Amino acid sequence: MTISSHSDVVLITGANQGLGFELSRRLASDYPGYHILMGSRDTGKGDAAVDILKPEGLSVEAINIDVTDEESIKAAAAEVESKFGRLDVLVNNAGIVAEGKMPTGTSLQETFRACFDVNAFGPFLVTEAFTPLLKKSHNPRVVFMSTGLGSITDRLNPDDQCAAFQFPVYRSSKAALNMIMAHYAALYAKDGWKVNANDPGFCATNLNSYRGWNTPESGVVNAVRLVTLGTDGPTGTFSCTEGPVNW
Ligand SMILES: NC(=O)c1ccc[n+]([C@@H]2O[C@H](COP(=O)([O-])OP(=O)(O)OC[C@H]3O[C@@H](n4cnc5c(N)ncnc54)[C@H](OP(=O)(O)O)[C@@H]3O)[C@@H](O)[C@H]2O)c1
Repeated sequence: MTISSHSDVVLITGANQGLGFELSRRLASDYPGYHILMGSRDTGKGDAAVDILKPEGLSVEAINIDVTDEESIKAAAAEVESKFGRLDVLVNNAGIVAEGKMPTGTSLQETFRACFDVNAFGPFLVTEAFTPLLKKSHNPRVVFMSTGLGSITDRLNPDDQCAAFQFPVYRSSKAALNMIMAHYAALYAKDGWKVNANDPGFCATNLNSYRGWNTPESGVVNAVRLVTLGTDGPTGTFSCTEGPVNW
């Protein structure tokens, strides 16, 4: 298969482990023609992830992208342009929980900045950098990996199933991410872009020290749906596998 024969070129940030890795595997397995660019901030980890999926015959390749580093983002966009000339789907998946995970002595301000850098500013910068390539797709799609913890409505509900989880830094970074999603959905609605936010549910990954009650396999079901939307699909939505999520 030559590069130009790929039906859809998909870039997933933070794809060397967790949900990004599982989403790469699912898409490349179930959607022949899809070519998955597995983003990682560490080339060694990215190559190792590709080395797991390539022997399964999957159409994947590693790409280095640190979403907090503008030079890295620009270099990744230049690489995609020179190899493919377009991008069909961008999945802003890379994310962190900073609370409780920063080195001892880290200030609250540094914790906030670190979390927003990866979870909100990064996806904005990445989407900006890849916009010219998305504009060259026949069906541009952007998926933002959000979370129900970013729902303001649910945070105000004392009976919400996650009411006991505080994480104000993580929650607010994802509420900001939802607004970034809404910005792009509104901006490119007239051009037919499908821009949506996904809540994967609470899945056992490195992010939560593998305490999630769902599997990564189940966590990517709705993301797959959003990545593979047709030209008549919805835009500007926030959903999980079961349906819409409260804003
Ligand atoms: N797991 C859940 O229950 C859950 C629930 C709701 C939402 N989410 C969201 O789903 C997304 C994926 O999370 P996950 O659970 O799969 O976590 P994970 O297993 O920890 O994976 C996170 C990925 O993001 C990457 N990453 C972190 N900082 C980065 C940066 N500066 N530049 C590029 N990549 C970076 C990590 O790279 P390294 O391997 O180098 O650290 C890793 O590949 C996140 O946005 C998260 O907020 C997860």
